[in-house]
Amino acid sequence: MADFSRFVRRGDQASRLRQLVAGDRSAEAPKRASCHVITVISGKGGVGKTFIATNLSIAMAARGHRVILFDMDMGLANADIVLGVQARGTWSEVLKGRRRLGDVVIEAPGGVAFAPGSSGIAELADLSEFERHQLMAAMQEIEARYDVVILDCGAGISRNVLGFAATADTVLVVTTPEPTSLTDAYAMIKVFPHLSRTRPTPADEPGGIGLLVNNVASRREGRDVYERISGVAARFLQLAVMDCGYILRDEHVPAAIRERYPLILRYPRCVAASCLMALASRLSREIGQPQAEQSLFARVVNMFL
Ligand SMILES: Nc1ncnc2c1ncn2[C@@H]1O[C@H](COP(=O)(O)OP(=O)(O)OP(=O)(O)O)[C@@H](O)[C@H]1O
Ligand SMILES: [Mg+2]
Repeated sequence: MADFSRFVRRGDQASRLRQLVAGDRSAEAPKRASCHVITVISGKGGVGKTFIATNLSIAMAARGHRVILFDMDMGLANADIVLGVQARGTWSEVLKGRRRLGDVVIEAPGGVAFAPGSSGIAELADLSEFERHQLMAAMQEIEARYDVVILDCGAGISRNVLGFAATADTVLVVTTPEPTSLTDAYAMIKVFPHLSRTRPTPADEPGGIGLLVNNVASRREGRDVYERISGVAARFLQLAVMDCGYILRDEHVPAAIRERYPLILRYPRCVAASCLMALASRLSREIGQPQAEQSLFARVVNMFL
């Protein structure tokens, strides 16, 4: 583990962070991105992010990836309920130095590592130097152990969500076909060209921003929503939105949540589970593609510059 103490003790923090990323990183930072970060976001709340992030994590693990899921919803951390696990600590305690990452990460059903969140955590931008140092150290540990990091975020545009999106290889925007949800999804997509790490990508290139349409009555409905949003994004933002498919409305979804067990394990043959497997297959193709030139560690450092 790198010794960060010299970076938090003296002088101008930003310039030292910059040195850490841009200068001789051989001792401190991994040279290449070794894990793929998928940040799950939405404009409107309640569109299925947590259901998708949890079950997608399991579907990716089933494909042989080493997956860690973070509950990053600072307002309503509830992925533990959907996974049916009992948190014994939260990753915010790791930032405060009260616990080690290994003590709070628990094994969730389906072989997924899960880092529970906590409601009411401070904005990332307001983290103290010590907390930032803890976060960076944790990222190095994660980078060494996992191939896929999935972040279940809160709804809407907050500084935290923008920060998490900026560290992502794939930003998965979830919407439903409802007009309010569509408008809010487009508003989310709109903010990304302004982020330093996101860029317009040709439709056939992997990575970038993907749209997933949840709670659709038919494949056709999912397709229509994708075409509408991606068409507007292409025309007005010159931004290619990756097609991440759709998830059918399925009564097994609320049933599994009531039973507090992941849908994909409880009802593996239901239509929503098949859609999730297709999503995992789509996203698996992204992994291993040359994408982020920077390590996860460096990307997190950049968030604070
Ligand atoms: N494909 C689906 N079919 C039927 N119901 C669904 C489907 N997807 C999600 N739901 C329902 O939507 C509800 C909200 O889902 P979830 O909590 O995952 O949303 P969220 O986007 O994480 O919400 P928040 O913005 O509050 O974090 C769930 O209780 C679930 O029952
Ligand atoms: Mg949620």
